[in-house]
Amino acid sequence: MARKFFVGGNFKMNGSISSITEIVENLNKAQLDPSVETVIAPPALYLLLVREKAKKEIGVAAQNVFDKPNGAFTGEISVQHLKDSGIDWTILGHSERRTILGESDEVVAAKTKYATENGVSVIWCCGESLEQREAGQTLDVIAKQLAALKAEISDWSKIVIAYEPIWAIGTGKVATTEQAQEVHASIRDWLAKNVSQSVADETRILYGGSVSEKNCKDLSKQNDIDGFLVGGASLKPAFVDIINCRL
Ligand code: G3P
Repeated sequence: MARKFFVGGNFKMNGSISSITEIVENLNKAQLDPSVETVIAPPALYLLLVREKAKKEIGVAAQNVFDKPNGAFTGEISVQHLKDSGIDWTILGHSERRTILGESDEVVAAKTKYATENGVSVIWCCGESLEQREAGQTLDVIAKQLAALKAEISDWSKIVIAYEPIWAIGTGKVATTEQAQEVHASIRDWLAKNVSQSVADETRILYGGSVSEKNCKDLSKQNDIDGFLVGGASLKPAFVDIINCRL
């Protein structure tokens, strides 16, 4: 079954009211490939602004969400807040949250469970460090991250997986098409063996890490690459070229 190509823009902790408004206006004006699902993830404070300004075809994602209902959790944002604000997606488990904020595989899995069970779709991130890649541990690291997710999840239909090798994030050092395809294929294989063939066939697996308008075309041609999670380049007009990379 055909998996709809997906391009996410992760603005991270960047932008201002005026620059984000400009990015959204630029996307609104552009002719975006209708066969691509486009979702942008601004900082939390700008979610409502973006949801109000972006055309309906563009989805909006938070960059994180808590795994409890509304209550005494100072500083957190709930799934209920997202739904109340028309936000259908969240990123979870980005390596910056895993490494800088100390989120474990289990914390990320619990958040993913709570979000998906309460109606918010998740771009779930995984990936290895340079040290782990050089030690030949890439597939083991990702299998461990996936196993923690599998322990919590029964319905995979609201999950998109983003493979983001940490060494390729923000470094300009993109994984080669072969390196990315190899990991994507092994993630799909893991899903087939450990979850089910239909989840393996239907789950979209995105690549993230220094994706640009220059390298996206070749990456998009790989069998198991179903889209991208774009950081730096999603803040630039060239993001439109990445969304339209298959035209
Ligand atoms: O989530 C996107 C990401 O971490 C990749 O960032 O700037 O390398 O495209 P960048």
